[in-house]
Amino acid sequence: MRVPFIAGNWKMNLSLEEGKALVNELKETASKTDVQVAVCVPFVYLSAIKEEIKGSKIKLGAQNMHWEESGAYTGEVSPSMLKEIGADYVVIGHSERREYFAETDETVNKKIKSALVHDLLPIFCCGESLETREAGNEKTWVREQIIKGLDGIDQEDMKKIVIAYEPIWAIGTGKTATSEQANEMCAYIRSILEEKYGSEVSEEVIIQYGGSVKAANATEIMNQEDIDGALVGGASLKGAEFIDIINF
Ligand code: PGA
Repeated sequence: MRVPFIAGNWKMNLSLEEGKALVNELKETASKTDVQVAVCVPFVYLSAIKEEIKGSKIKLGAQNMHWEESGAYTGEVSPSMLKEIGADYVVIGHSERREYFAETDETVNKKIKSALVHDLLPIFCCGESLETREAGNEKTWVREQIIKGLDGIDQEDMKKIVIAYEPIWAIGTGKTATSEQANEMCAYIRSILEEKYGSEVSEEVIIQYGGSVKAANATEIMNQEDIDGALVGGASLKGAEFIDIINF
């Protein structure tokens, strides 16, 4: 059985004090549910939020990392730095990073491999644009992202990777994919994993949906067979709303 996994992606939002207050609001809910809860916070908040969630069931994620261990990469953060401050997860290949910061399938692949070497669990994001979907090419697109992103990754490592299917047209737009559209793509992603790794692995991998998930649609989305969790942006910034999502 796959354990549902709901992660909040704060993006570049909240003050540190607001972030601390938010995780404190989540602690009780996280302690009472079987759902795995995580918050993916800005780099500069990681240590402070780690301290704040100590002793709770909330896991900590970063939103990006470099693939190199160290070196002359001004402004970058390495996987060992994330590990040292106690991050559990790292979001890799979010569409905003692909769009604004020149992430490619190749850099995403390097980052996933490097995260695994450093014992960080990757949340590997994929998803198509509206244009791609309207042209009917969404499956080909996502397939390519998955195949390239997972190039060279073996079965044992695959089990540690969380995949987040996030159609770009549904992110921050209020336009959620229908639960059927979301489940269809998540099932398709699982079938690609089955081809590549066999059914024992594909049945274990957690696949999240992301894109305008909120309390009002969480139950329907989470009840889909191939959707095991959610990567939540805007609605993870408000404690009560995020708690309702966790308690879907
Ligand atoms: P959203 O963002 O929930 O605000 O649409 C999701 C994401 O980008 O991870």
